[in-house]
Amino acid sequence: MEILVTGANGQLGIDLVKELYKRGYNVICPSRYDMNLEDKDKIKEYIMNSNCDAIIHCAAYTSVDKAEQEKGLCLRINKDATEVIAICAKKFDIPMIYISTDYIFDGSKDEEYTEKDIPNPINMYGMSKYLGEKSVISNLDKYYVVRTSWVFGINGNNFIETMLNISKIRNKINVVDDQIGSPTYTVDLSRLLVDILESNKYGIYNATNEGYCTWYEFAKEIFEISNIDIKINPISSNEYKCMAKRPLNSRLSKNKLVESGFQLLPNWKEALTNYIQQRENNI
Ligand SMILES: NC(=O)c1ccc[n+]([C@@H]2O[C@H](COP(=O)([O-])OP(=O)(O)OC[C@H]3O[C@@H](n4cnc5c(N)ncnc54)[C@H](OP(=O)(O)O)[C@@H]3O)[C@@H](O)[C@H]2O)c1
Repeated sequence: MEILVTGANGQLGIDLVKELYKRGYNVICPSRYDMNLEDKDKIKEYIMNSNCDAIIHCAAYTSVDKAEQEKGLCLRINKDATEVIAICAKKFDIPMIYISTDYIFDGSKDEEYTEKDIPNPINMYGMSKYLGEKSVISNLDKYYVVRTSWVFGINGNNFIETMLNISKIRNKINVVDDQIGSPTYTVDLSRLLVDILESNKYGIYNATNEGYCTWYEFAKEIFEISNIDIKINPISSNEYKCMAKRPLNSRLSKNKLVESGFQLLPNWKEALTNYIQQRENNI
């Protein structure tokens, strides 16, 4: 069985491809030179010639702040390209997994978000990913929309790397303490994505590591595990100036995963320990 993975060089893509190989799949990994998501004809041509049996669409425009200034580019990649990919999947009658985000929600709910909650994105990235979801759902029956959050994986420009880099040049740091969510390790998410692909249980799923924290708590744990002595100062989102607004509540309920018989991901602290270990082995 041949699986086409977009964004195979991204944080998630790298681990997903490893997991697919481990489970015996052939994997087709178009680079941005083979299939640039800004070129609709190229996408169609590539997928039509690929003969794949399923598509996992990991590639995306992921610069949340920059998206506020590059709205057109962000929409072309996250909405328009996703629509073309979904139309190709329909034409071949093959399943498609679309990776989505907690940023489709406005964060105003007091409880965890379920798959049934109505999205209301508050930034351009979130809006573009929501429109991508809609293209997938409206074009396909055999779709999985998997919403994840706060992703970290080896080779990524993620929060953990940002914290570790800052600690090399500063001995104190301000970190936002009023946004709550779940960090998610790409190794753990990749296992679940392949389980989902093999299930034929189509639909929308929330999928993150277990447990919740704020960015401040996440940073504290990163420095503790890494034995780095640094003063961390908790601040509010209002005090942290950036281009894009972020939802205060990013907690995603995983009840549907349990009800559908999928194995939950480990707690985020365990995932973080594994990441730091993997990172040290790679250096
Ligand atoms: N990062 C997060 O915290 C987070 C949270 C929730 C959901 N997600 C979603 O999870 C998925 C994976 O995220 P990630 O963090 O692994 O992303 P990432 O590391 O930023 O990788 C994005 C991938 O998309 C590819 N890409 C971007 N523009 C392209 C274009 N024009 N043509 C072809 N390929 C293009 C990149 O190609 P190059 O390698 O050539 O640059 C890269 O491989 C995305 O759908 C994202 O929206 C991420």
